[in-house]
Amino acid sequence: MLVQSAALVAFGATLAAAVQPLEVRGNQFVNPNTGNAFQIVGMAYQPGGSAGYDPSHGRDPLSDRDVCTRDAALMQMLGVNTIRVYNLDPNLNHDECASIFNAAGMYMLIDVNSPLPGEAINNLEPWTSYYAAYLNRTFAVVEGFKNYPNTLAFFSGNEVITDEKVSEFVPRYVRAVTRDLKNYVKNHVDRPIPVGYSAADVRVILEDSWNYFQCAIDGDEDDMSRADIFALNSYSWCGDSSFTESGYDDLVAMFETTSVPVFFSEFGCNEPSPRLFTEIQSIYSSDMMGVFAGGVVYEYTQEANDYGLAEINNDDQSIDLLSDFHTLQEQYENVDFEAVQSIKATNKKYPPPECKPSLIKDERFENNFTLPVPPPGAQKMIDDGISPKPVGRLVDIDQWDVVYEVKDSDGNVVTGLAVEPLADDVVNTPGTNQGGSISAASSDSDNSDNSESAAVRMASTGSIVIPLALAVSVVVGHRLF
Ligand SMILES: *[C@@H]1O[C@H](CO)[C@@H](O)[C@H](O)[C@H]1NC(C)=O
Ligand SMILES: *[C@@H]1O[C@H](CO)[C@@H](O)[C@H](O)[C@H]1NC(C)=O
Repeated sequence: MLVQSAALVAFGATLAAAVQPLEVRGNQFVNPNTGNAFQIVGMAYQPGGSAGYDPSHGRDPLSDRDVCTRDAALMQMLGVNTIRVYNLDPNLNHDECASIFNAAGMYMLIDVNSPLPGEAINNLEPWTSYYAAYLNRTFAVVEGFKNYPNTLAFFSGNEVITDEKVSEFVPRYVRAVTRDLKNYVKNHVDRPIPVGYSAADVRVILEDSWNYFQCAIDGDEDDMSRADIFALNSYSWCGDSSFTESGYDDLVAMFETTSVPVFFSEFGCNEPSPRLFTEIQSIYSSDMMGVFAGGVVYEYTQEANDYGLAEINNDDQSIDLLSDFHTLQEQYENVDFEAVQSIKATNKKYPPPECKPSLIKDERFENNFTLPVPPPGAQKMIDDGISPKPVGRLVDIDQWDVVYEVKDSDGNVVTGLAVEPLADDVVNTPGTNQGGSISAASSDSDNSDNSESAAVRMASTGSIVIPLALAVSVVVGHRLF
């Protein structure tokens, strides 16, 4: 049902419809058209891992159309509505990938930093890394992504405060970067794209981190250095855990009065393996909703740290899906996302605490709110805009089919995969894209028969007569899409 109403089935060139830019209201992301609060159903997307980012390669995760089409189609089948992308080169063109993810009904959380020297705040000596050329690059990322309607937020830092030992001086620099980015957005972007910090879940200093970034200096709520959002990378739910055993209940209690949206910018403990992803049922239930705005699963591609759902074969860009992919898909399918995403925003606002030393509980954590002033040359960029600057825009996409081979976790080739472009203001949910069909015999995805994948779509919704061969594969397979 959802498929017919939501999907704009399109062949040939299409003017991409657009997702609705979301707004922060109180502690929620809100769709201003519907007045509904938005829950992030996110996926960390960093093919190659953080070590794989090298601007000299001339590519980053959002610069190759065919790769983005492959991954957008697979994430669309999962039910993802947001990707998080860490390492971007502002000098590359991201128009096709941003347009593909937009058409697939997915927002983008964009990290402005990278692991390369000079492209992030150094947490041992932060003052050595806060200079105009660094900010220039972060502003270039803002310029490159500001025109895409699906840009959801910018992260001004990711796990810069790695433990309590580096929590002196580092917070004030990250808050200063947050301020500079917010001023840049205010002066040069026609909508208030939120900016905030993505914290490591170091429980002893988590509350301090949140308070340091959300508090109002001199009690001024409009203080430009206050973060617009606060996110945490949390791995405390492992295996067959529960709301209480995982400590999610403590998180809800801690963040109950948050003045800004809070969400998991990463989750997905990988022990035991294979994963169960039972936390999905808690995150999208009354346990967490209202305080948390969903979360981002870590992560799409399989890398050395073993958190992936899909293994990319670098020689031919083919994909082997891992069993965790199917497990996560099943967990998402057990959530009633139509209900989850149609809850009216509360429009309730908790005032931020005032920044003062007593707000900070751990004596090792920074409690000085005197921020460094912008480095020499930075204020001019903030006032006048950077030059030269990248310009991004949505573009027409005329090819939605996945051109690379994809195999499910049993090694069967999946044919007929494509991105389903969605209508205006439609966000992806599980079921929007029912996906291709399994064909153990053929690996030629270009030659797939449309009527075949349509039949599988119907088969999985339980209507219409199913061709016998397909019906069998539906029944014997652990799951089709
Ligand atoms: C910002 O970076 C660009 C190159 O991307 C350079 O041309 C420009 O001079 C830089 N501006 C400042 C103020 O450093
Ligand atoms: C806070 O930091 C500023 C700037 O480094 C410094 O001048 C001031 O003395 C510090 N305040 C306290 C109470 O240490």
